[in-house]
Amino acid sequence: MHFPGAHIISVSQFERSDVERIFDVASAMRPYAHRERVTKVLDGAILGNMFFEPSTRTRVSFGCAFNLLGGEVRETTDIKASSLTKGESLYDTGRVMSGYSDIIVMRHPQAGSVAEFSRASRVPVLNAGDGPNEHPSQALLDLYTIKRELMSRQQGIDGMHLAMVGDLKHGRTVHSLSQLVSLYSNIRFTLISPRELRMPEEIVEELRQRGHEVVETEDMESGLTANDIVYLTRIQEERFANKMEADLYRGRFRLNQAIYTRYCQPNTVIMHPLPRDSRDDANELDNDLNQHPNLAIFRQTDNGVLVRMALFALTLDVADQVDKHARDVNWYTERRF
Ligand code: NCD
Repeated sequence: MHFPGAHIISVSQFERSDVERIFDVASAMRPYAHRERVTKVLDGAILGNMFFEPSTRTRVSFGCAFNLLGGEVRETTDIKASSLTKGESLYDTGRVMSGYSDIIVMRHPQAGSVAEFSRASRVPVLNAGDGPNEHPSQALLDLYTIKRELMSRQQGIDGMHLAMVGDLKHGRTVHSLSQLVSLYSNIRFTLISPRELRMPEEIVEELRQRGHEVVETEDMESGLTANDIVYLTRIQEERFANKMEADLYRGRFRLNQAIYTRYCQPNTVIMHPLPRDSRDDANELDNDLNQHPNLAIFRQTDNGVLVRMALFALTLDVADQVDKHARDVNWYTERRF
């Protein structure tokens, strides 16, 4: 795809070569994200960071990524404080907001909303999650993490065995990640969820059509065996009619040290998009795995900054100029990445 000026709304926009290009640029961002070098390549540029749904890491890491490239960030976070509650259309908001920024990142509770917004925008719009639909930057950072974890085991993405667990119906991260992974070859997907929360049929169909093996099961124990990656997800309570309905599923599938040791092959990488629901009745990924070397959740969040820097650098067409506007840092930076 042609990145400069592009909106990034869905992983279906990418070919495998686009993904590899994003990953190459992301890796080149490492000295900047790790505070060894400072760049001002986006000096003067403004990011409109518009989050109309709760978020911590996605919002802050997009903002941080933009700052790390030398740009400034303006945040809009409360849907009740915006004119959308006065009946303004997403189209009008998009047209207006694009006059105030050089690029926009947007999260919104409605599927398709970010695409609608982007049609009015005169600057690139990056989808940071549109309801239960898609979350492309998360899928990219997840796959970047998978690639690196497997590389350290002398393996590649092609041929990997990936299990996804939890609320696969409402989880936008698994929708985007499975479709992104399907650009590679010969993957075995094991989809572990309650029957009512299965991966949407059209996505399963697409994975199969692309030649991958898809196993759907409600049985966590058998599903966990023989995977390279286990990707856990939270029950997406906010997508249910009420809390009681979500409670029916919360806590059904949990991974902890004992279950991991018993059912997973020893090298299995443990992933989760976060936030994990650490309340007692949920706890889909137990704290007793926190020190486990195969727990990649905080490597995912660190990698998120690199990948988001790459998306900005590519859509604003500065990927080749980052180093030209760089210098060493002046301050103490001994952080352990
Ligand atoms: C996810 C999301 O918002 O879809 N979080 C994130 O962006 N890392 C997953 C979730 O909320 O469960």
